[in-house]
Amino acid sequence: MAATRTEQAAGRGEAASAYESWIQAQGIPIHRAFFIEDLRTIELGWWEFRQCQAAFLVLAGQEDIQESRVTAIAPGAALPPWKIALEEMCYCVQGQGMCTVWSGDMPRKQFEFQKHSLFMIPPSYTYQLSNSRGDQEVRLLHCNYLPLAMLIMPIPDFYFNNEFVDTSILYAEDESEAFSEAKQVERDNPGERGVRALWVGNFFPDMKAWDKLEAHRRRGAGGSVVDFRSRTGRGGHMSVFPVGTYKMAHRHGPGTVIVIPEGDGFSVLWPPGGDKEKTYVPWGEASVFVPPNQWFHQHFNTGSVPARYLAIARPGRVFDTDESLNDRQIAYTEEDPEIRQRFENELAKHSIQTRMPAEVYTNPNYQWKYRGDD
Ligand SMILES: [Fe+2]
Repeated sequence: MAATRTEQAAGRGEAASAYESWIQAQGIPIHRAFFIEDLRTIELGWWEFRQCQAAFLVLAGQEDIQESRVTAIAPGAALPPWKIALEEMCYCVQGQGMCTVWSGDMPRKQFEFQKHSLFMIPPSYTYQLSNSRGDQEVRLLHCNYLPLAMLIMPIPDFYFNNEFVDTSILYAEDESEAFSEAKQVERDNPGERGVRALWVGNFFPDMKAWDKLEAHRRRGAGGSVVDFRSRTGRGGHMSVFPVGTYKMAHRHGPGTVIVIPEGDGFSVLWPPGGDKEKTYVPWGEASVFVPPNQWFHQHFNTGSVPARYLAIARPGRVFDTDESLNDRQIAYTEEDPEIRQRFENELAKHSIQTRMPAEVYTNPNYQWKYRGDD
């Protein structure tokens, strides 16, 4: 199993990065692992800085790119307002609450979030989170690029006491829509996933229920996908794929955080040329993992409902290679037979039949039936 980058650096006797030193100084649990099976049950600790229970995740594959951390809000409680000079992607894994966002003395914008909501707070906007229920903790996964940013500007106060705010992000002419539901825009370039629609907005109320998906024709399994981004420009995608199927293996740069809104299954990850070094990640709702740099990864649905995974993206293409998709993806006809065998064995444990057509293993031009096809 791959060590996290931090563990590798420590093994070489290297000094901790500025980000690593900062998280160690916060006095809350740091979960260093390949994956987290359930964000709702991991240990948290009191974070004086934010006045809440929290923990950092340092997962293999995050590299020095993406921070991920979990915060909790006690029943009925409100956290003090705070801000960070980087965009925060927030995904609710449990509970229900309110978020108020503003800059200086400009109007406050408020919205209600719930389990499976995804929302984005633009850089240096002040935001305050509260729990609107009296009987259940709120848990949020937050992602930002603080580790990457601190490689260049290592002084934490630059991020937490930065007065500059681009007020056009939330206070433009159409400000009433700042946190209304995302809107669809058409792109000229359909991107690697081959979808034209891009959903733009800072609030996605329910990723478990989101059904505005398009066929994802380039990775098999009859899956579908939505590409999204915030008003600032950060984004990601969510893929959904049917019961009894699995997708093709592929690889790319590090730092994309994957969290599961719904479904049960597993993923297999291995380094290029390291077919015998496969790491198996079992997942269900609220699991999280990050495919390491250029490791192949392949997702398998062994549950009784279509599986969904939400991918919170690494920045741009700067960490990717210029290889074509075909060079970074393994067709079913080319894959290690052990892959299919393992999948069928896992399905058998759940008394579920494979829905992978036998022909996909012999016909490289097999035509899956996708959403929207007749
Ligand atoms: Fe991927």
